[in-house]
Amino acid sequence: MKDAAPEARRRPGESLRAGGVSRSFEGVHALDGVTLELHRHEVVGLIGPNGAGKTTLVNIVTGFDFPDEGDVELAGEEITSWPPHRRARNGLARTYQHGRLFGGLSVRENVEVAALGVGAGPREARRRADELLGLLGLDAREHASAAVLPHGEARKLGVARALATRPRFVLMDEPAAGLSEAEVPGFAEVVRTVRDEHEAGVLLIDHNVGLVLDVCDRVQVLDEGRTLAEGTPTEIRRNIDVTAAYLGGAHA
Ligand SMILES: Nc1ncnc2c1ncn2[C@@H]1O[C@H](COP(=O)(O)OP(=O)(O)OP(=O)(O)O)[C@@H](O)[C@H]1O
Ligand SMILES: [Mg+2]
Repeated sequence: MKDAAPEARRRPGESLRAGGVSRSFEGVHALDGVTLELHRHEVVGLIGPNGAGKTTLVNIVTGFDFPDEGDVELAGEEITSWPPHRRARNGLARTYQHGRLFGGLSVRENVEVAALGVGAGPREARRRADELLGLLGLDAREHASAAVLPHGEARKLGVARALATRPRFVLMDEPAAGLSEAEVPGFAEVVRTVRDEHEAGVLLIDHNVGLVLDVCDRVQVLDEGRTLAEGTPTEIRRNIDVTAAYLGGAHA
């Protein structure tokens, strides 16, 4: 039943779509005709070995890079050439695989600045920081410098910063890297809260396949820039090709 629920939650027009996206870097086909759809109120997992093209796709969807071919649509409007800040103001947020926190600011200030950056006032920015530091379990660290956070907490702060923009869609690039095994179920709850209470669509990239299969409504598998498989977690679990490609990679 869990697998059928996202269809029922979908509303027309509330979708993010990358269609037929290709991107090469000096002859390397990082992406080769990939289509990805994300609806509000669903969590889609994007998995695949190192170098599969996952971050390249996030960069193109969020405006940090542009495709050689293909396009990006937000709620039916083509946004392929929009700069990142315009996408952010229209409800698109991301986390970064590598850093990009403001190291000179405190944990709380990092979240408030993200809210202010999309037009929230100071009082609203404080309110969002209160809520999100609580959600991510960072309240006790609010006055710490972001520069001194351990890896796992830095990833959580990246998620809080993304959520501070009140996104309709949030793309999380390995947000659970650096978390201990014991912290992973709590993070899965955060992702469900974003879907069910913030009513956002979540794209979740992670090498922890157990987490992805547990929390996602649909999963798409990339390998060498192409979609190798897509389906419900149950279908993906059964897909032997996927298992072979994934477990044969660097993360066996
Ligand atoms: N700016 C760039 N310049 C040159 N090559 C790049 C660039 N960005 C990505 N690539 C290459 O494109 C391919 C896809 O990289 P990408 O970072 O999207 O993979 P990924 O699936 O996110 O991998 P990982 O799981 O390691 O994060 C790789 O071969 C990578 O080396
Ligand atoms: Mg990556």
